[in-house]
Amino acid sequence: MEKLIEVKELTFIYNRGTKKAVKALQNVNLEIMRGEFLTILGQNGSGKSTLARHFNGLLTPSKGEVYVDGISVKNQSQLREIRKRVGMVFQNPDNQLVSTVVEEDVAFGSENLGIPPDEIRQRVAWALEALNMTEYRKESPHQLSGGQKQRVAIAGVLATRPDCIVLDEPTALLDPLGRKEVIDAAKKLNREEGITVVLITHFMNEAIESDRIVVMDGGEIKLIGTPGNIFDQVDLIRTLGLDIPMATQIAIGLRQKGIKVADHILAAEELVNSLCQLL
Ligand SMILES: Nc1ncnc2c1ncn2[C@@H]1O[C@H](COP(=O)(O)OP(=O)(O)O)[C@@H](O)[C@H]1O
Ligand SMILES: [Mg+2]
Repeated sequence: MEKLIEVKELTFIYNRGTKKAVKALQNVNLEIMRGEFLTILGQNGSGKSTLARHFNGLLTPSKGEVYVDGISVKNQSQLREIRKRVGMVFQNPDNQLVSTVVEEDVAFGSENLGIPPDEIRQRVAWALEALNMTEYRKESPHQLSGGQKQRVAIAGVLATRPDCIVLDEPTALLDPLGRKEVIDAAKKLNREEGITVVLITHFMNEAIESDRIVVMDGGEIKLIGTPGNIFDQVDLIRTLGLDIPMATQIAIGLRQKGIKVADHILAAEELVNSLCQLL
């Protein structure tokens, strides 16, 4: 597999050299592969957003390097090239909507990249279709639900045809239906369009289908692995201030009662299948 983003010995200090200096990242190393679905977990203040903001050059390293498709994010003259490759979606959809019509909103990012109008029209139509939002294209984004607004924001990033979309707690302000819509959309873009996805979340159920999970704590990466091997480390995960997925918790409880459900249970369906086989 080819690496798309490479983080090398990254340290980041806010307000560097002042009394208010905060070391938010300490010697972080990470490679994100093309086509991967990577989830970043960690309690508040662990450095997730600070790390993610390096992926498209919103922040630049205090020490170390971040390369996007081989381009250093320190190279400010290449910022546009970097942002063509990596797009970001944030927590609050209302802060990301810039237009009063959905399709104009989706076009905005591509216009900023200087893409010709004909091409933009095609991309917007494609992006709205991919996010299942075509029927809302003439509407005002402000009248949409939270999940729909986030899908408009994601469509806007998708229309710029990035290699990678970084979603920083995109579901934090949404209701359960909105959360599902957004996560399903991210999974679909990853599987069907081959887009690399970096998802930051504090909902464990959103992490279980990732290729890999990164767990951060105190500005450092504490664990990297598949969902199966991350959530097998129950005690360590709890020490790092995180939950265990619901189905995994139930499986642990059942095992303690002597019911021999399968190992590495993460999703409800896996638990159901395992229980059915025991009958
Ligand atoms: N703009 C900022 N100025 C100063 N400190 C910041 C700023 N943003 C974040 N921090 C600090 O950096 C650390 C990491 O924050 P952040 O990356 O936002 O964590 P997370 O996204 O995991 O909640 C925290 O200690 C936070 O208080
Ligand atoms: Mg954050």
